[in-house]
Amino acid sequence: MDISPELIRILREARRVAALTGAGISAESGLRTFRDAQTGHWAQYRPEELATPGAFRRNPKLVWDWYAMRRGRVAEVEPNPGHYALVEMAQHVPHFTLVTQNVDGLHVQAGSRDVIELHGNIQRVKCFDGCGVVETWEETDDVPRCSSCGAYLRPDVVWFGESLPFGALESAVEAARACDVFFSIGTSGVVQPAASLAYEAKNRGAVVVEINLEPTPLSGKAEFALHGKSGDVLPALIKRAWG
Ligand code: OAD
Repeated sequence: MDISPELIRILREARRVAALTGAGISAESGLRTFRDAQTGHWAQYRPEELATPGAFRRNPKLVWDWYAMRRGRVAEVEPNPGHYALVEMAQHVPHFTLVTQNVDGLHVQAGSRDVIELHGNIQRVKCFDGCGVVETWEETDDVPRCSSCGAYLRPDVVWFGESLPFGALESAVEAARACDVFFSIGTSGVVQPAASLAYEAKNRGAVVVEINLEPTPLSGKAEFALHGKSGDVLPALIKRAWG
């Protein structure tokens, strides 16, 4: 793994580090990325046709079953060395903020604390009418109802066309603007507003480091673009910096 000594020096001296992760960090746990997940019965639907409030309104059971399938896959997998490396990084850096677009909860399961989950969490459900009820997901065949107002419960994730959870984006932007080093890990960097965080960081003088299997629109703007699996690159980075 070719990691520049300059990056290691910068990382050791950094006071504030922020990291944004995407579906790629969970790929080595065995979870397919968002757009690759449509197989079998679900191959006939595009994710964009299922992950919307309109789709749920039209056919709550269809959307519920799709999320139940996805949640089932999450339940079968474990965090991988990439997730654990970020737990370790937080122990070495004075101020570390982890922001994720993933709804799988694997960062928390690995032991990361105060994770900013920009797109929600598939382990929770909330009231579709927005009465404020949020609960842990229980297995049911039919779409469950809200115990408070009787509306349907829906996954507590962000759907296309919806705003991000209150405060989450604000905290993520704050961390991006304040950090010395910003990592963009396993994300295609095309979904806003998450994709803008790297640019917020760069505009405030942070060193941007990308870790991805392949080049993305961010690669040319990043000071360091490390191409490889996050489960290999992150542990190697930690070992070189603090091992
Ligand atoms: P994508 O599926 O768009 O991109 C996954 C990225 O991970 C790609 O750039 C891959 O090259 C990279 N990748 C795959 N395996 C990797 C590995 N082992 N190590 C490192 N990189 C790897 O996923 P996201 O960028 O997370 O939003 O997608 C962002 C959002 O798009 C999702 O959160 C979802 C979707 O709309 C919502 O559901 C609101």
